[in-house]
Amino acid sequence: MLVLIDNANLYEIESLYTEYPYDGVTTNPTILRNEHADPIKQLKAIRELLPKTSQLHAQVVSSTTEGMIQEAHFMLDNIADDMFIKIPVSAAGMKAIHLLKEEGVNITATAIYTAMQAFMAGKAGARYAAPYVNRLDNMGADGVQVATDIHNMFRIHNMESDVLAASFKNSQQVLNLCRKGIGAVTAAPDVLRSLIKHDATFTAEENFEEDYYSLINEVKGFRMKKN
Ligand code: G3P
Repeated sequence: MLVLIDNANLYEIESLYTEYPYDGVTTNPTILRNEHADPIKQLKAIRELLPKTSQLHAQVVSSTTEGMIQEAHFMLDNIADDMFIKIPVSAAGMKAIHLLKEEGVNITATAIYTAMQAFMAGKAGARYAAPYVNRLDNMGADGVQVATDIHNMFRIHNMESDVLAASFKNSQQVLNLCRKGIGAVTAAPDVLRSLIKHDATFTAEENFEEDYYSLINEVKGFRMKKN
C-alpha cells in the first residue's frame, strides 16, 4: 500500500520525508490555498523536493471537460509530465478522464462519495480512485466500507485501477483499509505521524536505554558507549 502526504507545505513535506520514505504528495485547491503562494510554483517546488520515484497528484479546477483538459496539459507542461492529474467525478470529469487517458495521462479520479462513481471512473481510465473516507463517515455513511467495496470491485472486474483513499481523521481508518489490501492512502501530516507514534514504544526505549547504561557502569570492561 502506497502512503502519500496530503499537504502542500514544503517544510512539512521535507520534514516528513526526513522521518520516513513516503511515496508521494497529493494536493487539492483547498490544501494549496493554505500556502498563500502561486499554486503552479508551489507544485513545481514540491516536485523538485520529492525523490524521482515519488508521485505528485494535483487537481484541476475547471468544471468543463475542455477546461479540465487544458489545465491538465498546462500542469503537465509546467510542473512535471509524469504527474497525476486529479479530476473530480462529475459528468464533465468522466469525459475528461476518458480523453486524457487516451493521451496516456496518469489520472486520479477524486471527490468520490459512492462506489459506482469510482467504478465508472476506473472504466473511463483513471489509474486511481480517491474516495473521501472521513467525509463519508461524517455524512453517516461508512467511508472504510465504501473504499473497500471499490477495491473489491476493481479486483473482481480485473481493472487496472486502485483505490487511493483520502480524507482521514485518524489512524484507525487507515489501519482498517490497510487490512483490506487497498492500493494507496493519502493523509494529512498529523494522521501520518500517528501511524507510527505510541507512547509505550517511547517508554520501552527509555527503559532499555536506562538498563543498558546501568549495566555499563556495573560491568568492568564493557566498552560500548552512549553517543
Ligand atoms: O483531497 C481530498 C482530501 O484530502 C480531503 O480531505 O481532510 O479535507 O476531508 P479532508
